[in-house]
Amino acid sequence: MARATILTEIHGRVGMIRLNRPAQLNALNDELMDALGTALLDFDANTEIGAILITGSDKAFAAGADIAVMANWSYMDVYQRGFITRNWETIRQVRKPVIAAVAGYAMGGGCELALACDIIIAAESAQFALPEIKLAMLPGAGGTQRLPRAIGKAKAMDMCLSARMLSAQEADRYGLVSRVVPDAELPAAALKVATQIAGYSLPALMAIKEAVNRAHESSLSEGILFERRELHARFASEDAHEGMHAFLDKRKPVFQHR
Ligand code: HXC
Repeated sequence: MARATILTEIHGRVGMIRLNRPAQLNALNDELMDALGTALLDFDANTEIGAILITGSDKAFAAGADIAVMANWSYMDVYQRGFITRNWETIRQVRKPVIAAVAGYAMGGGCELALACDIIIAAESAQFALPEIKLAMLPGAGGTQRLPRAIGKAKAMDMCLSARMLSAQEADRYGLVSRVVPDAELPAAALKVATQIAGYSLPALMAIKEAVNRAHESSLSEGILFERRELHARFASEDAHEGMHAFLDKRKPVFQHR
């Protein structure tokens, strides 16, 4: 039987997805991306799950799109198969927080996959690059758009045009990642963050994720208006009243995720 391209596990309210093509450094072929999309949508629909964690191996989060598969594709091949849109748009549909735990290489599509996540926790070994230029290709899974928004034009142009590789520390300094931890601590640290987040009220998490994403996708005044509507909507949430009353009562809130 063919080896599964991803592995999934559930830890409490955290749905975990491990990319699993170690011999190819988790190169992202259609089969892996389809499985990833299915797993993401399943966890997103599962009311017992509050956050999703995506990780790879110690050596590679993912080394990019599968070059061996792409090498002989024609324009019509990629157009007809909806290359990128078919698989990658799924990631944007996920409403729950998605956390990437990155060790080793996050290159090309692997870096773009991490960028599509909401939080990136990097091991000290993590290395980030968009080296498509070396192949006379282009970072086509959101890289040319998300990277400048994440780290600014100067650093993004450098990475895209020169294939510059960033260490975890540089990525941290430039705002590409959320936190850096020693390699040995990555699995536990990432699960701890995911578990903490998954314990909060799910509708509040989804509202915050949507509002923060607006910061990239709209003008400031539209974003502020959207944020205000989301704030007002919080007052229709049982969890929000529970959270505030629990604070006043000096007790832990019990969220129903409503
Ligand atoms: C297919 C890949 C691969 C990839 C590595 N492998 N990256 N196969 N697609 N993206 C395979 C190698 O061919 C090799 O197979 C095995 O994985 C181990 O890789 P090595 O190169 O031997 O490992 P190492 O010397 O440690 O170098 C690691 C590396 C290097 C620096 C990450 O593999 C590398 O540069 N890979 C390509 C990175 C890249 O260009 N990514 C962008 C792809 S384009 P064998 O059979 O020899 O053992 C892209 C487009 C995005 O992502 C837009 C669309 C999604």
